[in-house]
Amino acid sequence: MVRRYACMLAVAAGLLLGLATVSRSKGLRGKKPQGVSRIPSLFREEERIAMKEALKGAIQIPTVSFSDEESNTTALAEFGEYMQKVFPTLFNTSFIQHEVVGEYSHLFTVQGSDPTLQPYMLMAHFDVVPAPGEGWDVPPFSGLERDGFIHGRGTLDNKNSVMAILQALKLLLIRNYIPQRSFFIALGHDEEVSGKNGAQKISTLLQARGVQLAFIVDEGSFILDGFVPNLKKPFAQIAVSEKGAVNLMLEVNMTPGHSSAPPKETSIGILAAAVSRLEQTPMPNMFGEGPLKIALEQLGNEFSFPINIILCNLWLFQPLVDGEKLHHQCDDKDHHSTHHVQCRGQGKCNTPKGPGHNQLPDSPCTDCPGGTYYMFRQLVQHQGGTCIGNTDSRHYTNLSTSIYRFNPLYLQPQDFSSIHGINEKISVQAYETQVKFIFELIQNADIFQAQAPHWHEL
Ligand SMILES: *[C@@H]1O[C@H](CO)[C@@H](O)[C@H](O)[C@H]1NC(C)=O
Ligand SMILES: *[C@@H]1O[C@H](CO)[C@@H](O)[C@H](O)[C@H]1NC(C)=O
Ligand SMILES: *[C@@H]1O[C@H](CO)[C@@H](O)[C@H](O)[C@H]1NC(C)=O
Repeated sequence: MVRRYACMLAVAAGLLLGLATVSRSKGLRGKKPQGVSRIPSLFREEERIAMKEALKGAIQIPTVSFSDEESNTTALAEFGEYMQKVFPTLFNTSFIQHEVVGEYSHLFTVQGSDPTLQPYMLMAHFDVVPAPGEGWDVPPFSGLERDGFIHGRGTLDNKNSVMAILQALKLLLIRNYIPQRSFFIALGHDEEVSGKNGAQKISTLLQARGVQLAFIVDEGSFILDGFVPNLKKPFAQIAVSEKGAVNLMLEVNMTPGHSSAPPKETSIGILAAAVSRLEQTPMPNMFGEGPLKIALEQLGNEFSFPINIILCNLWLFQPLVDGEKLHHQCDDKDHHSTHHVQCRGQGKCNTPKGPGHNQLPDSPCTDCPGGTYYMFRQLVQHQGGTCIGNTDSRHYTNLSTSIYRFNPLYLQPQDFSSIHGINEKISVQAYETQVKFIFELIQNADIFQAQAPHWHEL
């Protein structure tokens, strides 16, 4: 009982320190270290126009990954030339090295002035899934601006990040910024179809160079608005892990025979039963466990009575919580080891191992000062969660234990279905916020010290 009591106190303290939701009016808040001058994220009108025009141009290049074997390599190459055209500063700055890896992917090494600081990495990918065009309000590769939105395939997944990272760095450079902490920018060209020619090769290259990273920032989660019933405010979710994935091939071996005298159980029946059994025995729902538990406890106060009391005291009420009602796809932390999936498929039918990977380890998400997660909170109020999709960052697990997947974009359920669906679009304002976020993040990374942070509020 005493221990429980101590835990509750800790949770209460956590709630006081960390707000779970993001206020639209306040926006994202940076913090300022004592004695370090910062470049404010204020952009001139012509810079803001150039910023959105650069994104539109990127959307117009159809860098489609059709399958493992087939992608539009003409467009992939063209994208590389486009980056050089739009961001020449990144290619002629003495402390930035650019390499093409795996033919089309790009690795920038930005050399910081202080070699004692461990480097970090910003990642994104510029390949997109196909967009046949039916059902779209505007052609998917037009990059048209309409009603304050830039439309097109890749505006959310994930050319927005590619362009925002390069844009933010360019804007810092032309303000004579010199980084203290080194960092890498890794831009993959085949994330949508495994990342094995892009991210995986970059990872191998960096491992061979003995690189270890303080943290990695990738795509993968958003500021979610309207995803959880009864929760009115949007909340920022930083994904600290990633679901595993597996493709299974089911196989039935039977003695061949004539259809006029079918056996009682045919191969089709056995196969159908196996598929049905898989479907009826989903992975256990891990609702309310791990990082999600911390997130729920912090979100708890944003619900009305009695849900607030229940969520803030999950240690007591967890058996009462109807996970199905409260959880939504983004919080669904299924137990997902590939071995586990295959065991479930066993029976009369063989399930040879298909390609797949286990759920990734959780990155640190406790909020202790000096941790990388704490640094993230300099920019965004936080929530932990599991990334529902897969990203290129799974190829980088040997390089860092702190992988955070987050874009500071407001996302509503209908926007979510536009990713890989129809009418993908980003608001001009949201894109600007993303550029600002990275602009601040790069500067915060310089002054972030793993042991003794000296921050104070702006
Ligand atoms: C591939 O990209 C080029 C431009 O980079 C474009 O002209 C061509 O139509 C694209 N091909 C396909 C099949 O999408
Ligand atoms: C680098 O490119 C920028 C933009 O085109 C240009 O203004 C600058 O003079 C170039 N610097 C060098 C050293 O070539
Ligand atoms: C991580 O390192 C281990 C040991 O060197 C290696 O076997 C493995 O393939 C690496 N994983 C990735 C994703 O690079």
